[in-house]
Amino acid sequence: MPVAILVGGQWGDEGKGKVIDILAGSTDMVIRSQGGNNAGHTVVHDGVTHKFHLIPSGILFPNCLCVIGNGTVLDPRVLLQEIDALHDQGIDTNHLVISDRAHMIMPYHPVFDRLEEEARGDDRLGTTFRGIGPAYSDKIRRIGFRIGDLTKPRFMEKKLNFVLRLKNEILRDLYHTDEFNEKEILDEYTAIGERLASYIQDIFPMVQDALQEDQNILLEGAQGALLDLDFGTYPYVTSSSPTAGGALTGSGIPPREVDTTIGVFKAYTSRVGYGPMPTELDEVEGDVLRELGAEFGTTTGRARRVGWFDGAVARYSAMLNGVDSVALTKLDVLSQYETLQVCTGYFHKGEYHRFPMSNISHLKHSEPVYEELPGWQTSIADAKTWEDLPENCQRYVERLGELIGAPCDIISVGPSREQTIFRHRPY
Ligand code: IMP
Repeated sequence: MPVAILVGGQWGDEGKGKVIDILAGSTDMVIRSQGGNNAGHTVVHDGVTHKFHLIPSGILFPNCLCVIGNGTVLDPRVLLQEIDALHDQGIDTNHLVISDRAHMIMPYHPVFDRLEEEARGDDRLGTTFRGIGPAYSDKIRRIGFRIGDLTKPRFMEKKLNFVLRLKNEILRDLYHTDEFNEKEILDEYTAIGERLASYIQDIFPMVQDALQEDQNILLEGAQGALLDLDFGTYPYVTSSSPTAGGALTGSGIPPREVDTTIGVFKAYTSRVGYGPMPTELDEVEGDVLRELGAEFGTTTGRARRVGWFDGAVARYSAMLNGVDSVALTKLDVLSQYETLQVCTGYFHKGEYHRFPMSNISHLKHSEPVYEELPGWQTSIADAKTWEDLPENCQRYVERLGELIGAPCDIISVGPSREQTIFRHRPY
């Protein structure tokens, strides 16, 4: 059962792109199972930096079939740009496959995303404005368009006629803004459909055959467990399920086929957008860590909020996802600290909590319990083995593993592939 699920253990941006790039070399198929171009994976491959939003990072390996699964929402305009950029760099995309069941971000979705955020005022979520929430809402409302619909122009036309009536009424009467033109959308999307046609197929038979043949399959998660619709800090979450459970529904793989779940955790915490983050550092200390970690978003360029490692968040997401193995990233960023704080739980109104509470107001007003660990104050960027890491650094990693409840098998000490320590190959 060589199926591995890779999930983000925190609020996204854990450095999943690099881990996927490392694992994809020995993988037959990578399936992206949820989210859309709200995600951004930075991969440094053969000295070249690539930024992916939709296409699985495995695309850099010609023998790895890269699948955009049914659980995603994809903006076909962005997808084409990403395909064109890869072609410009001489990278072949013949091994890219798109599930015909994946939903499309339509031109009105980013517009609604922005209008809704503005209407929320002080209670805004801090979305990426990519139209993710509106596209998933339409999927649930059964007024969404699937990418397979691009090959059925008559169906598109009939349905768009109905859907645009709903959308335009809201744009006109509620938001007093421009309406969308049916013909313009149809013309543009039909042309895009022709260009994407060779990539689109029903992936179910292909995925089931791969399972039968015992191929290595990696389910690539985007975002992170704390942005999960059900288990994240709702409503400050994304609109999909970036958990191990979501990876299965987003790809059509049954639970019994899963061999291992890899959780990717940053050696500290970051988050973009609003919502509670108990270990967030104040502005001055935060600026230092933000600069050290270059914590600015791949997708939006926004400065990320940063803080100490939150062991309660990590414990929660490891249990939620059934994490067997940990990939710990950006450990090198902490090298200059004399001491490091690690949160082990919270107090709220005198009561101890070992997990983030579902009530986000309680979480926001909770007091983190910190444990202080000595820093190592020396560069680890050239470390190749576990033994190369200073003792205090090893202690820090071991303590995080204890808090997470799974071994730190992969340790990343810099952006390039070579700056990776394997204590054990999880997959
Ligand atoms: P949306 O996914 O654009 O609707 O944004 C909802 C929340 O999820 C916002 O706080 C975003 O900043 C956050 N978010 C969405 N995608 C990512 C990601 O890939 N990394 C980190 N945060 C994300």
